[in-house]
Amino acid sequence: MSIFAYSPPLPPFLFSALVVSGLASKALHIALHIRSLPFLYFVLYSPTLILPDVLVIICVRLLLRFHAPEGRWQWLSTAVGGGLSLITWGASSIQFGFFLQTGAEVAWAAGGSFLSDPAAMKILLSGISTVSAAATVLGLVAWLIHSHVYNLTGLGLQAIRDLCMGGYKARYTLIAPSKSCMASFDLRSLRRIIPAVAICVSLIFLEVTRPEIPYDHLSGALPLTLLEAFTKKSATVEGCREPAVPFPLMTVDASGNSHPLYQPDSFVEQWSRASWLPENPPKGFSRWDMSPHDRAVKDNSYSYVCGGAEGGFYNPKNDPIKVRNLGGEIYEPLKKAFKEHSVQVNHVVLLTLESGRKEMFPTQQGTPFFDNLLASHKKKDVEEAIDRLVTMTPVAQQLTGEYATDSKGNRANLTDSPWKTPTEEGMGGLNVRGAMTGSSLTFKSILGSHCGVNPLPVDLLEEAALEIYQPCLPQIFELFNEGKLTPDTKDNSKSEALKNPWKPVFMQSITDDYDRQDVLNENMGFKHKVVKSTLESSHAKYHASGKEINYFGYAETELRPYVWDLFEEAANNKTRMFLSHVTSTTHHPWSTPDDFMKQSYMGEQGSINHDLMNNYLNAARFVDIWLGDIMNMLDRTGIANETLVVVVGDHGQAFGEDNKDMTGTYENGHISNFRVPLVFHHPQMPRVDITANATALTIVPTILDLLVQSNSLDERDSEIASALLPEYQGQSLLRPFLASIKEPSHKGHGDHHRRPPPPPSPKTEPEPEPSQFEARSHPDSPAKRSVWNMGLINAGGSMLSVTTASVPYRLILPLKEGFEYSFTHLGEDPNEDHPIKAWTLKTLIEEVTPKHGEESAAWLSDAEQVGKWWVTEQKRIWGYREA
Ligand SMILES: *[C@@H]1O[C@H](CO)[C@@H](O)[C@H](O)[C@H]1NC(C)=O
Ligand SMILES: *[C@@H]1O[C@H](CO)[C@@H](O)[C@H](O)[C@H]1NC(C)=O
Ligand SMILES: *[C@@H]1O[C@H](CO)[C@@H](O)[C@H](O)[C@H]1NC(C)=O
Ligand SMILES: *[C@@H]1O[C@H](CO)[C@@H](O)[C@H](O)[C@H]1NC(C)=O
Repeated sequence: MSIFAYSPPLPPFLFSALVVSGLASKALHIALHIRSLPFLYFVLYSPTLILPDVLVIICVRLLLRFHAPEGRWQWLSTAVGGGLSLITWGASSIQFGFFLQTGAEVAWAAGGSFLSDPAAMKILLSGISTVSAAATVLGLVAWLIHSHVYNLTGLGLQAIRDLCMGGYKARYTLIAPSKSCMASFDLRSLRRIIPAVAICVSLIFLEVTRPEIPYDHLSGALPLTLLEAFTKKSATVEGCREPAVPFPLMTVDASGNSHPLYQPDSFVEQWSRASWLPENPPKGFSRWDMSPHDRAVKDNSYSYVCGGAEGGFYNPKNDPIKVRNLGGEIYEPLKKAFKEHSVQVNHVVLLTLESGRKEMFPTQQGTPFFDNLLASHKKKDVEEAIDRLVTMTPVAQQLTGEYATDSKGNRANLTDSPWKTPTEEGMGGLNVRGAMTGSSLTFKSILGSHCGVNPLPVDLLEEAALEIYQPCLPQIFELFNEGKLTPDTKDNSKSEALKNPWKPVFMQSITDDYDRQDVLNENMGFKHKVVKSTLESSHAKYHASGKEINYFGYAETELRPYVWDLFEEAANNKTRMFLSHVTSTTHHPWSTPDDFMKQSYMGEQGSINHDLMNNYLNAARFVDIWLGDIMNMLDRTGIANETLVVVVGDHGQAFGEDNKDMTGTYENGHISNFRVPLVFHHPQMPRVDITANATALTIVPTILDLLVQSNSLDERDSEIASALLPEYQGQSLLRPFLASIKEPSHKGHGDHHRRPPPPPSPKTEPEPEPSQFEARSHPDSPAKRSVWNMGLINAGGSMLSVTTASVPYRLILPLKEGFEYSFTHLGEDPNEDHPIKAWTLKTLIEEVTPKHGEESAAWLSDAEQVGKWWVTEQKRIWGYREA
């Protein structure tokens, strides 16, 4: 009687579910990467790819039918085997559900932190229908073949066992070797074993010799990968900061020796306390406060620098990829307006558009995106579709000054716009074309626009546990407020409004408890907020009246009475307002309130379903109307003429219309997730159109520069703002954006030797602004310093988008095993329809060079080095260590 004989149907079904789910998951896993695998190697190594699955299958098969001498262990082994099967079935269903919705792979490593986060669980559950559909299909297939699978593996295992044991007799020989049994172990069974041994040996050989990347990742099998993810714990520690890693790019001098392109000045003046810093500064200014050494002595928990005086905080003077443009002249029309004192900035409204794509701010002809929308329409409907689409976002047209043209080539009809700009044409402020986000994860991106910092290249919002390395806008305004507590007698010439205290307020109609956003907001210095819990509270001044529109919360329009109150408060000369508002309806699944009349923007042509895009476009129109509402409130309360309105997208959003393979932002490097609008709107500023590959890092410096230049700050605050301005990594867009600068000739070694740290004295005048050209390079090699734009791909720790502002190349750099390199030439392929992918930089360069030339190859090699350096450097300046 065989030990693998028939058994009740549940274990065979569970086993079959394991086999079907495990193998299907592996097939999906490989299919997602197959395009970048060299065919020959893939065929050669493919047996090793399913080895872990085979081992899992064998183990579970044994567990599910294990005849112990006594039956009581059988329950346990069946339970364990059944449990593993159910887990694999579930995980595989989630994988397929996720893939069907987004085209991406689930990274189980990020799943651990998801499970403890209720808002995140809601996101996962929003895809529950596709997941259950996948589970049903897998289950059905498993049921259909369960008896075959179960019996066949049983027979197989039996054969293997017989082979190894040489039958029952051989088994006894293990216990009591006897002459007769030894004799039965004859040549014949040996001959049967040899092929099996040969297969095993060659498998082991292949397994050992195969390249680690990508085959180790590809061979991962459920449920082992799951187990690995949950046992691997990483933690954020704010510890001492490592010394900086040298910048990797080298320059070659006349005698053929190579030197690092830039070398940092050690020991800089930031160690002395800034003269403008008040006695008890708000959080965010520790780098101008006491020296880290003093702090360490005073408070042991603050030992910032590891092993001595070097390293430490972010230091703009040592930043090899900072390009300063503050030496440049302010744009002429702006200068004129400032001189005439006609620009007054008493208030700042910073609007972050959730999933706000540049191509939709405003929607207009001439982008690959627009052409993709039109492709869904039949030829005869195209003209009508154009006219509907170009009037979709009229408020965006007026804010940017980019007026769309209709199908006849006339300016789009904006009669129905919910807001009509009162300013004449030629006025309205700065509009940037070419801006990219610093991260496709919303709150990493918001760190850039509110604090002028680059995000931390790890999954999810770990930044919430750390000190932000630059002061954020609310903290700067709070610093301004501190000076207003003491009456200032000498400065009574200035307008009274400049003496009002700033009031930073954060508003969004959705929850802020997703992934520690509430903590981050507090760390950024927001003391007032209106969020979903405010709208739902029993003490709410204005209770939410509508229904929730997505798994995060309500439509933005629920905030209207709060926004109005804030504007009135500002208008009545009580406060200087800083409002930061993040929109929400443009988030997946793009539902709008029931009473919103949806329009049909998409046709039926093409192989994909256009419903999602249609919902997204309607949500974008809903937000455009809401922006018009905000602008109307500014007009009606009478503060529009003294309010700067900054509009920026947190990130884009890739749809099937952009890229059939992969949608969404999660682990998707596609360019449509990165192009965002960037507008600095002020009715009294002349219109300046800027074409620059800038990022949201420019927002804080531009606002500070504008406040100073338009005389919108009193003397003391103006001094502070001017001192802070050069400390940020981004450029001020009031002046021409510099994509790169030539390093001038080297000043000689003598004057660059390391200076000892000046003693920390409470009153040291800030040094004059360092010149733009401080980095070292040899006189004979006029090295170029470029603006490197880094874009962290959601969830943050796996892929980095690397571009330089002056060239059209783009690299997606993998930060973790299991992700590929990808190269695109945005000049020739603006929609990234034909990325070149590879598992190593070497093979990528080999493929890119024949198509795009040596220059692209050289750039790729630089880009990889700078990208990797940047990742290390970001962790250092954030004070982050993996524990
Ligand atoms: C613009 O649209 C409005 C209403 O939609 C219409 O009344 C008006 O005639 C249109 N103007 C032009 C020039 O087509
Ligand atoms: C607010 O202050 C400004 C400048 O002092 C003044 O011109 C304006 O009339 C005041 N507005 C109100 C509503 O008090
Ligand atoms: C804003 O300024 C413009 C011209 O500079 C003026 O026509 C308009 O009345 C002002 N609006 C308010 C609300 O003061
Ligand atoms: C911005 O980048 C694009 C490619 O992404 C490039 O073609 C263009 O020249 C750059 N623009 C500027 C002003 O550097």
